[in-house]
Amino acid sequence: MKIVVTGGAGFIGSNLAKHFEDLGYEVLVIDCFNSGERFSNGNFKAFGDYRNLLDFSGEIYCGDICDIKTLEKIADFAPHAIFHEAAISDTTVSEQDAIMRTNINAFVDIMNLAKKLGSKLVYASSGAVYGDAPSPQSIWASEKPKNAYGFSKFMMDKIASNHCATNPSAHVVGLRYFNVYGKSEYFKGKTASMVLQFGLQMLKSGKARLFEGSDKICRDFVYICDIVAANEAALKAKSGVYNAATGKARSFESIVDILAEVLNINVKKEYIPNPFIGAYQFHTQADLGKNANLEFLAKWSLEAGIADYADEIKEIFKKEQNA
Ligand SMILES: NC(=O)c1ccc[n+]([C@@H]2O[C@H](COP(=O)([O-])OP(=O)(O)OC[C@H]3O[C@@H](n4cnc5c(N)ncnc54)[C@H](O)[C@@H]3O)[C@@H](O)[C@H]2O)c1
Repeated sequence: MKIVVTGGAGFIGSNLAKHFEDLGYEVLVIDCFNSGERFSNGNFKAFGDYRNLLDFSGEIYCGDICDIKTLEKIADFAPHAIFHEAAISDTTVSEQDAIMRTNINAFVDIMNLAKKLGSKLVYASSGAVYGDAPSPQSIWASEKPKNAYGFSKFMMDKIASNHCATNPSAHVVGLRYFNVYGKSEYFKGKTASMVLQFGLQMLKSGKARLFEGSDKICRDFVYICDIVAANEAALKAKSGVYNAATGKARSFESIVDILAEVLNINVKKEYIPNPFIGAYQFHTQADLGKNANLEFLAKWSLEAGIADYADEIKEIFKKEQNA
């Protein structure tokens, strides 16, 4: 089995690349890697980092998914399946042209390429398509994107759905990841999960900075191992769009409480005003009722996921201290 992972030097993509390599698949990673360039919000334009691939032995191609040469590279490799993770993943980017070009145009090209090659396509959509729609958020019922990123992912889902309606033999599965946390997210900087950010704050100072009202700000937090399992299940699923989440909403405050226990820190909580009000998701919880055709159920509770992740957080902290 030959697979391509676009965005394979990023958080989720590198976990997928290594998982499928461990299963014995031949894996080609496509990523543009971090060039050091930044968007106007100060964050890097791309978070791909070679250090996420230190244990990977497959092929790596540095290329932009918007570039025809990158598509030709994928075509030459002739994959059985493409896992499409490459995207502008930062929800706070305001350059709409770059978001639409990278997240929509390149996706359409990759979907058409998958059709030509007869490859299965599994792509990353997002819980951001739901904006602040009431919980539980349901496929084709609750979409209300609040930013350009969420809009781009919603468009990908609509385009994929139309594509499958007119190409019944296509295998195209969209997974709407909710808030993913776990190993290899460090190079996302400020856009890494709050599990990592709170963990590092607490190890450095014994303090955690939360937005006011964080006991009531809840998200469906999903551990990276579950997201990898959802992608594997997508290879056998019926074409369609599915929520990739736990179906449970947990507060940001509970992340800090779990970390305090796991890291054994007597944490001091500091509350700051939320600067993102207006474009913020206050409560997400996936409706899993429409997931019957995807053989996936999240296994990791927030407690178990954070406990499993804690050693990596401590390791990152030590490296930062010694840098
Ligand atoms: N992490 C989450 O909580 C989450 C939630 C919902 C959806 N998603 C989606 O999952 C996918 C993976 O997210 P992630 O958290 O691993 O983010 P990430 O930023 O770590 O991974 C995206 C990768 O794509 C690469 N990339 C960006 N633009 C590219 C381009 N033009 N050409 C080639 N490569 C390019 C980046 O270098 C990066 O390695 C993304 O599509 C993201 O939108 C993530």
